[in-house]
Amino acid sequence: MDRTVVLITGCSSGIGLHLAVRLASDPSQSFKVYATLRDLKTQGPLLEAARARGCPPGSLETLELDVRDSESVAAAQASVTEGRVDVLVCNAGRGLFGPLEAHGLDAVCAVLDVNVVGTVRMLQAFLPDMKRRHSGRVLVTASVGGLMGLPFHEVYCASKFALEGLCESLAILLPLFGVHHRCRPRSVSLIECGAVHTAFHEKLEGGAGGALERADTQTRHLFTHYQRGYEQVLSEAQDPEEVTEVGANGASPLGVVSGWVHPQWFPQRPALLFPPQLFLTALRAPRPALRYFSTDRFLPLARLRTEDLSGSSYVAAMHREAFADLQAQEGTEAGAGVLGVRDLQPSGISELGWPASDKPDQNKPCHQPKN
Ligand SMILES: NC(=O)c1ccc[n+]([C@@H]2O[C@H](COP(=O)([O-])OP(=O)(O)OC[C@H]3O[C@@H](n4cnc5c(N)ncnc54)[C@H](OP(=O)(O)O)[C@@H]3O)[C@@H](O)[C@H]2O)c1
Repeated sequence: MDRTVVLITGCSSGIGLHLAVRLASDPSQSFKVYATLRDLKTQGPLLEAARARGCPPGSLETLELDVRDSESVAAAQASVTEGRVDVLVCNAGRGLFGPLEAHGLDAVCAVLDVNVVGTVRMLQAFLPDMKRRHSGRVLVTASVGGLMGLPFHEVYCASKFALEGLCESLAILLPLFGVHHRCRPRSVSLIECGAVHTAFHEKLEGGAGGALERADTQTRHLFTHYQRGYEQVLSEAQDPEEVTEVGANGASPLGVVSGWVHPQWFPQRPALLFPPQLFLTALRAPRPALRYFSTDRFLPLARLRTEDLSGSSYVAAMHREAFADLQAQEGTEAGAGVLGVRDLQPSGISELGWPASDKPDQNKPCHQPKN
């Protein structure tokens, strides 16, 4: 039987690298992987990982592909010797982190070009053939930042929100092109990742924070505070091998259930599944879901967004998640002359518009720490 031809963007490091090697070394030997990189000079770690995982000869080929350049996309496509791609993984991505005003527009455009337009370029190149052949599936590396707004990630979230709209819209159309084929183009799936240990945070466009001197003192103070909490989240990040690994007990679009979420937030939780299955689950599912999650940690917050369409509940809950401990510090720090939350009130929580007693879900925990 023909091998499943998989083409992945952004394989120089992180999730793309691990997925490429994982598929190429699959014991079934049923995948031919085209691992693409923006610059082939950076393929050393990928080839090293392929050697270490014992990828059989011919299971993995590298191609240069810059998702910002249509000619580069076309050249890579023309180099696929099988003349078809069964599974397209749009994984290339760039982050932008810091106060909005600290980012130059060139950095903003670069991130949107890679994350959004780059994905559109890939789809425009590969989808028509999948439609014609009534076969193929698309996986897009998405993010919790595409399901909810996060402070200091405004542009990155905007780019990942865009992918949600892009893929959800396509998902409605594509089933019409599926007949009884092994890889139906009915499927476009978003692989929703939480924090993953990769080079992503070292490769942030413009570096962490951007040109902070462009932001006012209060914003810089809030950013510094947020950054500390964010570093904590990163220290608990998943390993990329975990995100690309396939579990033994079948498919669930909800991936792993780790015990982080308070039961009241997740009444219909599925049976425990271990470990995260995501990419391979989506790839093998006879009827793939639109979304697969690497962690359920953020699902309660995501759910708040859909339960209260005014947005107030989510904004209040995330505000608390991000800045509540700043309030707690207020008493001790105010005496020491450090800028405290009371100083921030004019543009802080009071401007969100709720008297403290009215804040939605004020006393509900969003998640519980791991035991
Ligand atoms: N790490 C996380 O916490 C996390 C969480 C949620 C979602 N994600 C998403 O996961 C995906 C992979 O990121 P990662 O975490 O594995 O980070 P990573 O190690 O930085 O990988 C990003 C990859 O994208 C490539 N890339 C950037 N610009 C490109 C372009 N113009 N053309 C082709 N490739 C390009 C990078 O190549 P270069 O090395 O050449 O720059 C790199 O190979 C991204 O879409 C990211 O948004 C990551």
